[in-house]
Amino acid sequence: MERYILALDEGTTSCRAILFDEQGRAAGSAQQEFASIFPQAGWVEQDANEIWRKQLQVMRDAAAGVGVEQIRAIGITNQRETLVVWDAQTGEPLHPAIVWQCRRTSALCESLKADGWEDEVRARTGLLLDPYFSGTKLKWLLDAVPGIREQAEQGRALAGTIDSWLIWKLTEGAVHATDVSNASRTMLYNIHTLEWDADILAKLGIPAAMLPEVKPSSGIFGYTRLLGDAAGGGAAGSQSAGIPIAGVAGDQQAALFGQGCFDTGMAKNTYGTGCFLLKNTGGAPVASAKGLLTTIAWQIDGRTTYALEGSVFTAGSVMQWLRDGLGLIAHAADSEALAASVADTLGVYFVPAFTGLGTPYWNADARGMITGLTRGATSAHLVRAALESIAYQTADVLNTMTEESGLPLRELRVDGGAVANGLLMQFQADLLGASVIRPVLLETTALGAAYLAGLGVGFWSGMDELRGLWALDRTFEPELDEAWRDDVYGGWKKAVGYQL
Ligand code: G3P
Repeated sequence: MERYILALDEGTTSCRAILFDEQGRAAGSAQQEFASIFPQAGWVEQDANEIWRKQLQVMRDAAAGVGVEQIRAIGITNQRETLVVWDAQTGEPLHPAIVWQCRRTSALCESLKADGWEDEVRARTGLLLDPYFSGTKLKWLLDAVPGIREQAEQGRALAGTIDSWLIWKLTEGAVHATDVSNASRTMLYNIHTLEWDADILAKLGIPAAMLPEVKPSSGIFGYTRLLGDAAGGGAAGSQSAGIPIAGVAGDQQAALFGQGCFDTGMAKNTYGTGCFLLKNTGGAPVASAKGLLTTIAWQIDGRTTYALEGSVFTAGSVMQWLRDGLGLIAHAADSEALAASVADTLGVYFVPAFTGLGTPYWNADARGMITGLTRGATSAHLVRAALESIAYQTADVLNTMTEESGLPLRELRVDGGAVANGLLMQFQADLLGASVIRPVLLETTALGAAYLAGLGVGFWSGMDELRGLWALDRTFEPELDEAWRDDVYGGWKKAVGYQL
């Protein structure tokens, strides 16, 4: 009887579930998009109930073809930093989820900086004082919504990132937990002592009672019976307690794991809603002075692995905007053909700072901008400039990593939806002057969660076995010279500079 691991991948725009077999091949999948709400300029919210309903549905759909007893474990991976606060008695969210992209705590972050907290936050959490992270979102909610603080102090209002929300729902309220990689994105977690940071909690007025228990990324979190019920007749045999949730990680850390970047120095870039470039730095947290984040990659068998991260807030979502906001393309995938219909952007640069700028600029108030328009510019030039902006932002991150470590990265593993776009990948290789390596399986985020869960229940023997499952699809080698690179990248830097 074939056995599987079921990965739940709850991203910024859609819920997915993928069933993986022992060779790491996708054997079933389902996906549903959900809405984001933009109540004010720069604010982003989502309906946590909609996320849960859709995640449950796709989990059941992906597993529909197999018996529940064939599913050995569930892994969860998720958009990080997005905050949910819910009522432990009713299971209802007490406010819409505040999404990682939301800038509502920009002024709060500035006032914390003025109070001298920036260095403290950086030293303890590895992060910067930016609205991106969950901590100030939680303070905002405690201050803005009457009654939540009292409920939180009594342990009735619970807080968590999306992983915690899903774990709690899947275990029907039995488990309130998160994993170290997600905790390390809250700005409330001390990445050295591996505890919630009491001083930061006190400064922000956050009651510790509302926070989840922090667990390793691989190992049993709890059990769910909700798949068994759907499959008809409840969980069977050895699964009588339900199916174990045995691996959890933030989506970017999961992608690093799914790409097999287990060794120090290995790096990947995921082209999703945003772009997140993570480099494994091994057992030591490496501090950055240039706007990279120090974060926890995963914790397995008592060993914590750290990563350096560069975060780009707007990547794939720029294509969504061209589709939904401007109506320039019917489908995101159409962007490649339209962009390829022109040789270059005709000097047009697109700075997609819809929700501020991350690494290396960290400017929460920057906003989107198109520069260099001349009478000859067409929608094709605009689409090409939008596509290229994804590669320019990645180059900003990689150049920062190189400057900081003094070691140029010779190759970069890539994944995520946009890497199917050959034009973008070739432009990326040309711009970086490095090999861009695309694996066969692009769903590395879900695969990473599956790996963590599979290791947690002994489905796979260890990382050496997983290393052998990674397979190359194509390498994009740089074809253009340094003079070209300096010229186009100089233009990008000038365009970004207008927002700084
Ligand atoms: O930190 C935000 C990140 O986790 C979102 O990922 O894949 O939705 O761009 P994604």
